[in-house]
Amino acid sequence: MSDSKDYLLGTDQAETQRLGMQHRLWAESAVSVWERAGVRVGSHILDLGSGPGFIASDLAELVGPDGSILGIESSPLFTQQFRDRMKALGLPWAEIIEGDLHDLTQLIGDRAGLFDVVYSRWVPCFLEDTGAVVKQAAAALKPGGRLAIQDYFSYDTLRLAPRVPVFEKVIAAITKMWNQTGDLDVMGDMPRYMREAGLELVELEVVHRIARPSEPIWDWPTIFWPNFIPRVVEAGAITQETADEFYQAWTDATNNPDAFVMLPPVFEAIAVKPE
Ligand SMILES: C[S@@+](CC[C@H](N)C(=O)[O-])C[C@H]1O[C@@H](n2cnc3c(N)ncnc32)[C@H](O)[C@@H]1O
Repeated sequence: MSDSKDYLLGTDQAETQRLGMQHRLWAESAVSVWERAGVRVGSHILDLGSGPGFIASDLAELVGPDGSILGIESSPLFTQQFRDRMKALGLPWAEIIEGDLHDLTQLIGDRAGLFDVVYSRWVPCFLEDTGAVVKQAAAALKPGGRLAIQDYFSYDTLRLAPRVPVFEKVIAAITKMWNQTGDLDVMGDMPRYMREAGLELVELEVVHRIARPSEPIWDWPTIFWPNFIPRVVEAGAITQETADEFYQAWTDATNNPDAFVMLPPVFEAIAVKPE
């Protein structure tokens, strides 16, 4: 099942599962950002592009019932899954509004200026106008509140070692296709977007991981390929033959204890709204 407001990676059950696994593999780094952004018991948090709610349920447990989480999400399927998840987990202080982040101010209405933390992970890289969304995120914060973002810069440095030409060809095609609607270098502009929104950048860091086939993080790209590569073939950016060669190269690497992959760098930017 896929819904009408499909984002680039699709909104279906397979993508929900991928997002869940991805969240587990990156949870440690997310928790570290939340701590540095000032998430505490009782915090009021806005989660932009919340997906099915994997982040929001963790945050809801951290802030407790004296705090609150408000997710914003454009996919009706993910929005429903978010509500089901919070109900099943008994976290009624985590709510969601279905809508487009470009309309953030309108969507949150009189909650503007009340949030301690606005957080977003792997969402700006899909947006048409990240600068406009960052301005609205800044307006959502209370004075002294923080905006924390995790996303990509230099995604096309994703490399398999030893190097394999078909791997690099497919990564180049993925990057080109993604950049037609989004921006896989979006964190390169984040300091400017934050400054133009009246925020002060207080931290800019990068998490650049490598993965070996024996490590859990190897599964992160492994679960991404079958989700996205068929879309790259469908769009005509690569042939099925190239995709098959790519899958074979990945299988060979998985069986090669000497192989490793250099993952795309995930940047972390934290900015404060002046008092
Ligand atoms: C890669 S997922 C990340 C989900 C979640 N932030 C996480 O890290 O697990 C990107 C999410 O952003 C949502 N999204 C993309 N563009 C959006 C927009 N313009 N407005 C609202 N949500 C959007 C997608 O539907 C998807 O749920």
